[in-house]
Amino acid sequence: MSSATQPFSVNEINPLKSLDEWEEAVLERYPEPDSIAQSKSVEEYRNYETPGRDTVKEFYRLNHTYQTYDFVMEKQKEFLQFNRKEMSVWEAFDFLNQLVDDSDPDTDLDQFQHLLQTAEAIRKDGHPDWMVLTGLMHDMGKVLCLFGEPQWAVVGDTFPVGCAYSDKIVYPEFFKDNPDYNNKNYNTKNGVYQEGCGLRNIHMSWGHDEYVYQMMKDYLPEQGLYMLRYHSFYAWHREGEYAHLLDDHDKEMLKWVKLFNPYDLYSKCPEQPNWNELKPYYEALIKKYIPSTIKF
Ligand SMILES: [Fe+2]
Ligand SMILES: [Fe+2]
Repeated sequence: MSSATQPFSVNEINPLKSLDEWEEAVLERYPEPDSIAQSKSVEEYRNYETPGRDTVKEFYRLNHTYQTYDFVMEKQKEFLQFNRKEMSVWEAFDFLNQLVDDSDPDTDLDQFQHLLQTAEAIRKDGHPDWMVLTGLMHDMGKVLCLFGEPQWAVVGDTFPVGCAYSDKIVYPEFFKDNPDYNNKNYNTKNGVYQEGCGLRNIHMSWGHDEYVYQMMKDYLPEQGLYMLRYHSFYAWHREGEYAHLLDDHDKEMLKWVKLFNPYDLYSKCPEQPNWNELKPYYEALIKKYIPSTIKF
């Protein structure tokens, strides 16, 4: 484990069989692109629940219980020094692919395939090259798992900490077990923040989104950075929550986050793109925007 302060058991670190289990659950919650999905309430999502989904429920219980304001501060301090590893993007893809799913090796794609399929879907629709690169990099932060971090501190819907939780976040009842829930500094509508202060001033629950944003923040345009930083903030970009914390810039950027989301959720396909044909394009793309090595 990376932090001496972590008191978690093996079951608490890895409640899911694989990280993909979380993504599959998101896909069930939002089976269709945006406008249609908005009519589906969290209650309806619950109807999908089967005993087989207990791992996902337990995952959210742990996520909502342990992602406190202090936990987020500690993780920012721990990981945003980027003093663990330095790798080229290509080495980083190999590293990320060590995250394999033992439970179902036949049907699940490796992490790189998901990144490549997301990027290719964006490219096919004629979006700018920086957005293709955003698709290629968006889940790189999942390497946190390889640094021993619990799954619920790597993936999962993200949400602001330090203020009241939206009841549109999946399994909101689990927030009652979060110590911040009863802390009057953190449990009011605005909490530690000013109304309209903008998402840049908000601390989000810790995970692969914030980590990859911080890693890439000097290399991609603002729209791409919003896509990275908030792609799991479903309570905002799908449910329209937290309007009281947004500023005009966030409102402007929301459309880019929404534009990105379907490529992440709906591009998974068992057929793998022909990597040998694609490689020269991606080598040039990475070279254009990203230095020869990046720090983790
Ligand atoms: Fe992601
Ligand atoms: Fe993804």
